[in-house]
Amino acid sequence: MKLLITGGAGYIGSHTCVVLLEAGHDIAILDDLSNSSREAVRRVEELAGKAVAFHQVDLLDEQAVRNVMAIEQPDGVIHFAGRKAVGESVEQPLLYYRNNVTGTLNLLQAMQDYNVRTLVFSSSATVYGEPDTFPITEDAPLNPANPYGRTKLMIERICIDLVAADPSWRVSLLRYFNPVGAHLSGRIGEAPDGPPNNLLPFIAQVAVGRREELSVFGDDWPTPDGTGVRDYIHVMDLADGHAAALNFLADNTGLHIHSLGTGRGYSVLEVIAAFESASGRRIAYRIASRRAGDIPTSWADPGKARRELGWQATRNLDAMCADAWRWQLQNPQGYPKDTSG
Ligand code: NAD
Ligand code: UD1
Repeated sequence: MKLLITGGAGYIGSHTCVVLLEAGHDIAILDDLSNSSREAVRRVEELAGKAVAFHQVDLLDEQAVRNVMAIEQPDGVIHFAGRKAVGESVEQPLLYYRNNVTGTLNLLQAMQDYNVRTLVFSSSATVYGEPDTFPITEDAPLNPANPYGRTKLMIERICIDLVAADPSWRVSLLRYFNPVGAHLSGRIGEAPDGPPNNLLPFIAQVAVGRREELSVFGDDWPTPDGTGVRDYIHVMDLADGHAAALNFLADNTGLHIHSLGTGRGYSVLEVIAAFESASGRRIAYRIASRRAGDIPTSWADPGKARRELGWQATRNLDAMCADAWRWQLQNPQGYPKDTSG
């Protein structure tokens, strides 16, 4: 298939591009590089041994999005582009609603007008809020706790209405749990701008000496060791999940929702221990107060994705840490700053 990948220069997008190119798809990337680097696209090309069309375009530029759709005429779109920092979304809600929701509306309008009816959308486990029962199934109540999460829920609902109005659409909403790790080569990985918000990149930066110590946000949660429990999923498993979703959509019209996780949770202290053995370095940490908006526990029931998509995660926590560490060690400052376009 010919696929347009919005946000393809970003963390999850770049890994998914490699998997899709290796599966024989042709891809074009649309990204404004607001949270990513052109170098990531060059490395995707290097890893897959194939050229990728790249359009530096902001989804808020409606005409530019239409131009890309007209030039590329894709068979389908994978839509990663969006802002994702929870704290920033609380401080600047309009920025988040405009970028994520209006950006998606522009994309969907261009798809409709150019008769592109296949979409895979990056949703998030954050739409579940703080569930009462575990593991979390797709029919759990939806109650996101912050503006970022609410943009994801709004986009899900827009897609539901779109498919209700025109059932020829094929839409996959993928709710990711906690993506971590990197490509086995160490050439692409997660490169946060500024201090990382998320656990794994923070630990990796402590291990490599960029930060002094990790703050563990609370050891008094109702979990076995008192620290927060999450369903970490290797980014390459997640990338495979997108290829599986596309295969599924080839045979199924309508809208389909799947959680992508491993089905098992690890605590912060367990992740620290796994990273220490993967890296051979000690991770200095101190117990800090709870982070506002955090939940104690989150893990997926990946059964629906296994049954319907024929997909399941295969890489364990040791592989997630080893691969994140290889990337961090080879690229201690992330991607080099761009010197060319
Ligand atoms: P990322 O920031 O690395 O990638 C997002 C990409 O979108 C970036 O390259 C950025 O430059 C681009 N982008 C942002 N706004 C844009 C716009 N208006 N026009 C064009 N490009 C734009 O993030 P990621 O971790 O790869 O996440 C990808 C998607 O998955 C996001 O939608 C995110 O909300 C979602 N998600 C991520 C996680 C996670 O923990 N990483 C978890 C659940 C869901
Ligand atoms: C974060 C996002 C969520 C998003 C998810 C997946 C927040 C508040 N939520 O959630 O919207 O869907 O990522 O990308 O950002 N921790 C520490 N010290 C740190 C960082 C994290 O102890 O420096 C702990 C957290 O308290 C949590 C666990 O590590 O228990 C994982 O945190 P994080 O990686 O930020 O992911 P989530 O909290 O699941």
